[in-house]
Amino acid sequence: MAKTINVAVIVGSLRKGSINRMVANTLIELAPADLKLDIVEIGQLQLYNQDLDDRPPAEWTAFRERIAGSNAVLFVTPEYNRSIPAALKNALDVGSRPYGKSVWNGKPGAVVSASPSAIGGFGANHHLRQPFVFLNIPAMPQPEVYLGFAHKLFDQQGKLINPDTRKFLQGFMQAYAAWVVANAKS
Ligand SMILES: Cc1cc2nc3c(=O)[nH]c(=O)nc-3n(C[C@H](O)[C@H](O)[C@H](O)COP(=O)(O)O)c2cc1C
Repeated sequence: MAKTINVAVIVGSLRKGSINRMVANTLIELAPADLKLDIVEIGQLQLYNQDLDDRPPAEWTAFRERIAGSNAVLFVTPEYNRSIPAALKNALDVGSRPYGKSVWNGKPGAVVSASPSAIGGFGANHHLRQPFVFLNIPAMPQPEVYLGFAHKLFDQQGKLINPDTRKFLQGFMQAYAAWVVANAKS
């Protein structure tokens, strides 16, 4: 596909030194040329409150416009207490409303999780796929990415130093590009 595909990358961690942000930056670097990936920030989003549906905060509107203007979504998240971070769930909720106007609808997606622990955020990775069903985000099944001991994969500058992981993530991004093309909304 010659056309550029705009991908909204959402990082589930808000902290400056986030490993998951390092992973997201690496995925951006490894993406095939026809994908244009940009991180869409979620930390500024006020907690979703249905009372505000008819007078939404400017940050909600800007976020919804960014997602609506993207062709696909890519989530890179840590695991918090065996599930997804609250900030990430909030972003999903903000984007899903007002009812019937969800900006997620039909955007092809994929999930990557990373953790310093052995199981690589498996719980968060799979919990995130549950709202995807209702939000109609077709989630790429394979390859799965659970990056365990992820703090050891990067140097002080946030550069990926493990060549095997680099190769694996490159393959993941190629599969993701094909998934997005195959599932793009017409
Ligand atoms: C509130 C909280 C809950 C956490 N729960 C888990 C967990 O369930 N599983 C896990 O592997 N790591 C857990 N961690 C550790 C995170 O994986 C670790 O802090 C990681 O570096 C967070 O990702 P980040 O570097 O992208 O911010 C938790 C951390 C916090 C702050």
